Amino acid sequence: MPDDARLPAAETLPILIAPHATLKTKARAVGPADDAAVRDLIPRMFATMYAAPGIGLAAPQVDRLLRVVTIDLMPNDKPAPLTLINPEIVAASQELATREEGCLSLPGQYADVTRPARVKVRYLDETGARREVEGDGLLAACLQHEIDHLDGVLFTDHLSALKRNMILRRLAKEQRQKREGR
Ligand code: NI
Repeated sequence: MPDDARLPAAETLPILIAPHATLKTKARAVGPADDAAVRDLIPRMFATMYAAPGIGLAAPQVDRLLRVVTIDLMPNDKPAPLTLINPEIVAASQELATREEGCLSLPGQYADVTRPARVKVRYLDETGARREVEGDGLLAACLQHEIDHLDGVLFTDHLSALKRNMILRRLAKEQRQKREGR
């Protein structure tokens, strides 16, 4: 967890674990009426993400069906928080890249996912300013993974049915064992 005075202290939120209907639901765009809710939500999403710990979190994962994403890849172990409101992929490379992905909503589960190697994303930042971010490598995978969450898509949806079911069954079994304290 980064010790950074710029990040306001906020309470964490419970993270939804798959399978959950909210994780499969498309989130709605943030509008002017959501201002107060989003201002309250963003620091709590960062607190939740850092505590997990994770490098990306989408609002549906904390039971808010709004198009809000927080990302921090912590380059050189320094915080670099990125807030994306209403993010949209406006360009994606033909070239694909495969990386191992995990997800805070599928704890302990990892699989190789193939996606466009480079993407450009348009979004509003936490002040409402229009911005663009372009990236490859981990950032490209993370942007696509988190934007997928806003459309009710999990990384397992990019896998074969066989692999997806294997992961979901293993997760269900591990969650059951955890609940039973085994
Ligand atoms: Ni995820």
